[in-house]
Amino acid sequence: MDKVERIGVSLDKKLLSMFDKLIAKLGFQNRSEAIRHLIRRQLSGERLQHPKARAVGAVFLVYDHHSTKLMRKLTDLQHSHILQTISSMHIHLDEHDCLEIIVLRGQVGEINKMADSLLSLKGVKLGRTNLLATEPT
Ligand code: NI
Repeated sequence: MDKVERIGVSLDKKLLSMFDKLIAKLGFQNRSEAIRHLIRRQLSGERLQHPKARAVGAVFLVYDHHSTKLMRKLTDLQHSHILQTISSMHIHLDEHDCLEIIVLRGQVGEINKMADSLLSLKGVKLGRTNLLATEPT
């Protein structure tokens, strides 16, 4: 662990009270832990603005499993982006719909491009992507 520095933060009572309620609700053990978490989250969010930043992403897709063309295209896209595709999970939601979660790793720009290709496939009913920028090396 890097050397730790202690800092002091001045907050008005109302803001501190709201912060304490929030961190209690979120389950943090103490203010320091909560502040560290919020800073890391903000820094990660900032890095996502840079297309070359390293990141991991999960693409969630809901589609009708009767669309065999779509299933083949999903598989083809993952095979042609083998370096970015870490893993995928298939869940049978009901008699019609399937949920596919595809986990990607790489640069933000590459992940977004791949995610857009997946989400725009004909037959995808619902979809979204969640990205997290990983620590810079
Ligand atoms: Ni299925």
